[in-house]
Amino acid sequence: MNPVKVGLLGLGTVGGGTATVLKDNADEIARRAGRGIVLDMAAALDLERAVELGLGDVRLTTDAWEVVKDPDIEIVVELIGGYSPARELVLQAIDNGKHVVTANKALIALHGNEIFQRAQERGVMVAFEAAVAGGIPIIKAVREGLAANKIQWVAGIINGTANYILTEMRDKGRPFDEVLAEAQALGYAEADPTFDIEGVDAAHKLTILASIAFGIPLQFDKVNTEGITGITTEDVAYAGELGYRIKHLGVARRTDGGIEMRVHPTLIPERRLIANVDGVMNAVLVQGDAVGPTLYYGAGAGALPTASAVVADIVDVTRTLTSDPENRVPHLAFQPDALADTRILPMAETQTGFYLRMRAKDQPGVLAEITRILGDRQISIEAFVQKEPAAGEAEVDIILLTQVVREGAMNEAIAAIERLDVVSGQVTRIRVETLN
Ligand code: HSE
Repeated sequence: MNPVKVGLLGLGTVGGGTATVLKDNADEIARRAGRGIVLDMAAALDLERAVELGLGDVRLTTDAWEVVKDPDIEIVVELIGGYSPARELVLQAIDNGKHVVTANKALIALHGNEIFQRAQERGVMVAFEAAVAGGIPIIKAVREGLAANKIQWVAGIINGTANYILTEMRDKGRPFDEVLAEAQALGYAEADPTFDIEGVDAAHKLTILASIAFGIPLQFDKVNTEGITGITTEDVAYAGELGYRIKHLGVARRTDGGIEMRVHPTLIPERRLIANVDGVMNAVLVQGDAVGPTLYYGAGAGALPTASAVVADIVDVTRTLTSDPENRVPHLAFQPDALADTRILPMAETQTGFYLRMRAKDQPGVLAEITRILGDRQISIEAFVQKEPAAGEAEVDIILLTQVVREGAMNEAIAAIERLDVVSGQVTRIRVETLN
């Protein structure tokens, strides 16, 4: 049988890794796929890069549209990233009857509903394993391996750059900017690194995870998104004293009232396996009603780990080229006409524990005022730390951990605490998840 011809859009970090893996592992890949897979064409703005990668026989162009319309190409691999022109290129590839593999989480999170519908109409596949947690086959695990389960919740460390920064802050006390620059140099960070540190990249990935876990359309605009820029080395240290690690977590949870979708820094008990996932590594914890908790761990970014997922998708597409489109694994795990219109909860209705840090006057009655505000709202305190004032200072740090509470009640309590004369500045709040 003739080999399948692949066209690559983009020869950056992941594009280069994909070209390398396809070449280096060609024989092993063909044995798995039942057919050869060749990189036939590649588009990149800088064709010098193709020379560096040793892409001798590959047809090269600086115009991605040439790949999308080339009659020989059966699978278009979109590794340009970003919303546009990735969306237009992918839709055109589908219209031209080509299967698509992409690592583009932004594209899938925002335009996936439109793209999947078009692919369904045209009978082609759009595969996106590399879009979530890099090399970890989490899409396949949830979509296929856990197909028997009603998934109750998913919690993941799904941005390697943010995890790397938090790990370095905890272990070495290194400054934020220096660690971020290093993550960029290593090819982990997004082209716009604010997507990593403001939580947008994790929100893209959580959008996808929530859809395949619960069978709901992709709804990026409903994810409550907070990044790690407000986390200080003091918070990291106080969390450690209380037996917790701070991780940037994406959480999607099914509740009686609807589905929670949120990404934010989170205190996790340090005895949990996921609390010990450090550096650029990712991990996703999935709770299914039949299987119980399952944990998936691996490299969430980088050239070869991400290429591992891209090439696995190319193999998957190659294997199913002849199968009936109606009987392929559905894009969002559930049949398109069976997606549910479940309510997504506003943040005020979500429930977590809280870590609170505040600066308060060191004088009698202060603690009583603070705890009265919490008690009046039925917010129970789980743990408490107060340090002696530093020499010459009249204020102290007070740190509280609360039991699980509705976010709306906590918002009211924090506003009331901030109005106290004895408390200066804003209260720092970080959510707590015990994940049991
Ligand atoms: N910027 C992403 C991260 C790359 O740091 O995890 C993988 O999506």
